[in-house]
Amino acid sequence: MPLFTPTKNQEIFSKSCEVLAGGVNSPVRRFTELGIDPLVAQRGKGEMIWDEDGNRYIDFCMSWGALLHGHAPARVIEQVKRQLEKGSSFGISTSIEERIAREIVTLIPGIDQLRFVSSGTEATMTTIRLARGYTQRDLIVKFNGHYHGHADPFLVKSGSGTLRSSDQTQMEGVLQDTIKHTLSLPFNHIEKLKELFYNPDYSKRIAGVILEPIAANMGVVSSTKPFLTLLRKETERIGALLIFDEVISGFRVNLRGAQALYAIQPDLTCFGKIIGGGFPAAAFGGKKKVMDFLSPLGSVYQAGTLSGNPVAMEAGLETLKLAARDHFYEELEMKTKRITTSVKSALKRKGLSACLNESVGMFTLFWGPKQVNRFEDLKKLDKNRFKQFFKFLYEKGIYFPPSPYEACFISMAHTEKTLEKTKEEILEFIRQV
Ligand SMILES: Cc1ncc(COP(=O)(O)O)c(C=O)c1O
Repeated sequence: MPLFTPTKNQEIFSKSCEVLAGGVNSPVRRFTELGIDPLVAQRGKGEMIWDEDGNRYIDFCMSWGALLHGHAPARVIEQVKRQLEKGSSFGISTSIEERIAREIVTLIPGIDQLRFVSSGTEATMTTIRLARGYTQRDLIVKFNGHYHGHADPFLVKSGSGTLRSSDQTQMEGVLQDTIKHTLSLPFNHIEKLKELFYNPDYSKRIAGVILEPIAANMGVVSSTKPFLTLLRKETERIGALLIFDEVISGFRVNLRGAQALYAIQPDLTCFGKIIGGGFPAAAFGGKKKVMDFLSPLGSVYQAGTLSGNPVAMEAGLETLKLAARDHFYEELEMKTKRITTSVKSALKRKGLSACLNESVGMFTLFWGPKQVNRFEDLKKLDKNRFKQFFKFLYEKGIYFPPSPYEACFISMAHTEKTLEKTKEEILEFIRQV
């Protein structure tokens, strides 16, 4: 008789470790810092997921924000099935690519044209290549704690999974020669921005500035309006392109993205996650005069075997159509506030060293700092408290993203009942602290 009988989750994970690097296909999935076995998902419906042992969780990770309508929404599945029967990939153009592109171009004033790719990383890395081709300059500016995928030029003071246990970005294997062309500044810091933009040694060399207008990869941290307004004005003044990475905020905070909330038009926008309706798709777009620099009309090269994949495009278009109904985002915001309003007051009442940042459909409860406006504020992050918090909820069947640097995502499938339960459990944890 073995002393220890592994659960089905443990068995699958242990077998995965033999044949997958680190047992996973994306680092955060391993739960390394939490010291517990990772979750192995078996299925999902609405706001719920089930693991391989049959345990049920209310899901606040939602495929890292990709699932705006929850798991397996009927209308999306219907479109996907219809497309699958016609063929899953052609490597040549299909009409669905034009239809979803037109929907987005109609919605978003700063976008004349798009190009679809398969991941957010592909979208962001192509926009900086495009910015360099268009401006004939070499430098890219980003902000500390913002995550733009895992292409080499972005692995400088990056957020999300690159942070792991320390607040240093993991960047082994990235050439110094590559990242010497990336400048990373403190976010929401007007003085530092001006310092760089008024330094003639740099300002004439800046091809583009990329940021998450509502950052969500060091937890949720919104741009301040004066900061973003200045950034728009200064990029225009020096002739650099402003690139909004809306891989998370796009179609989440508003149908027209964070750019609509701030009423600021970037030169290029990146989308991902929601745009693929749970399938691998992403996109970038902007004015025609910039997009014309892309191959085949121009000579900034970009290509992809599965780019604009028709199954993903059908899922994406149906997802956007569902989000386009009246009051969708008001409702999503109300759902978010069902948790955040009481939690914020409880934190305040108890005078805890913690704070909650939020936007529409997402929030982060930071343990440690009293306020978070930029990455540097996370030095006070209490990772042990986060671990306790994660496990407390997990044991009660509530799955939060397994890292203190991430955002919790609310989907339209989250019901009053499950939001209420989650809120009550968070309040109980706060009472016990
Ligand atoms: C803001 C942002 N940009 C880019 C990416 C990269 O997207 P992908 O993981 O699809 O490559 C992510 C992924 O989380 C993201 O959150």
